[in-house]
Amino acid sequence: MDIFDNNPDRAGRNSLKWGKYAGKDILPLWVADMDFRSPPEVIRVATEAAEFGNYGYGNCPDTLVECVCERSKSLYGWDLEKHWLVWLPGMVCALNVCCRAFEDSSQAITQVPIYPPFLSAPSNFGLSCTQVPMTLASDRYTIDFDALNELDTSPNDLFMLCHPHNPVGTAYRQAELQALAKWILNRELVLCSDEIHCDLLLEPNSRHQPMASLGPEIEGRTITLMAPSKTFNLPGFGCSFAIISNGELRRKFKRAMAGIVPDPPAMSFPLTESAFRSGEKWRLQLLDYLRGNRELALSRLREINGLIPYSPEATYLLWMDARKLPVPNPHQFFEEHGVGLSDGRDFGSPGFLRMNLGCARSLLEEALGRMNKACQSLT
Ligand SMILES: Cc1ncc(COP(=O)(O)O)c(C=O)c1O
Repeated sequence: MDIFDNNPDRAGRNSLKWGKYAGKDILPLWVADMDFRSPPEVIRVATEAAEFGNYGYGNCPDTLVECVCERSKSLYGWDLEKHWLVWLPGMVCALNVCCRAFEDSSQAITQVPIYPPFLSAPSNFGLSCTQVPMTLASDRYTIDFDALNELDTSPNDLFMLCHPHNPVGTAYRQAELQALAKWILNRELVLCSDEIHCDLLLEPNSRHQPMASLGPEIEGRTITLMAPSKTFNLPGFGCSFAIISNGELRRKFKRAMAGIVPDPPAMSFPLTESAFRSGEKWRLQLLDYLRGNRELALSRLREINGLIPYSPEATYLLWMDARKLPVPNPHQFFEEHGVGLSDGRDFGSPGFLRMNLGCARSLLEEALGRMNKACQSLT
């Protein structure tokens, strides 16, 4: 038995994912958290911190900053300086801070479909949101450079990139990133690069390339956002960080945070450090398990007429086109048949669905069986 087969029973606990369908026979495969336990060392550190019994204010320890810098060098080949890091209690918060910092720009540009806060953050600060549809090439979602080239932009407009991309699972390739960096530099834009899923690349031997690591010019125009929360399943601890090499951008970002964005919770720092320092073996096991879940889901979903699943290159999220299913609302249809997915409408793509693969294989099997049966009932 795999460690990821046997998970805590979250029903009746304080879980957003499971609470949504409390008391209903609907399997929750929606919001992006995983049903798995965090790595054993993280649980040990959390237990020790909880048992200490004093929950006063904390500070980000130097050891964690050093750890982030060492890890960036060894995993991505990107050299950071310690003072480039800015800590925040979440990534949605960081996306909003970016928009607040650039509220005087003429627009924020993003690619759809996209994780919903990319669509809502600009308007929270009166910034217009320009949505550029992604393009499909050989069943893979990627950047539509023709569409980008047609846009009117002004210097310091914000480009909000999700890299790897939620919900479609694209892990952008070097050539795509270089072309995008060139386009951003030509237009003198500022890049906000959300790389929260960067340690969840599913293709064996692939390596994440942070956009900012492509060269000093693009680094100087980029706010990179990272966090341990998706990879090590710590979203409930609210810890993330921005990496900003350009002093002026960093000051602008911090000014937009001032007085309204608290530090991450004290307990989240030792947990983050233990995940980064001791979680590597666990992370590799996780990737194996997720690959298995991906293969299972793809093979079953491809058998269903009217559904087109896209294989995620990264993340534990699987995007599918359900527009050919003969039902008015595919999200509601699957809920009525016992499977709770994310509705593509929220990502700017009605008729599509997103499935969370971060669950025990047996639960996934059950959900896929229910989906299959539901669709057979249509014929
Ligand atoms: C791309 C992306 N950014 C940000 C977040 C949310 O991060 P947080 O929970 O730290 O606000 C998610 C969660 O799914 C995500 O997929």
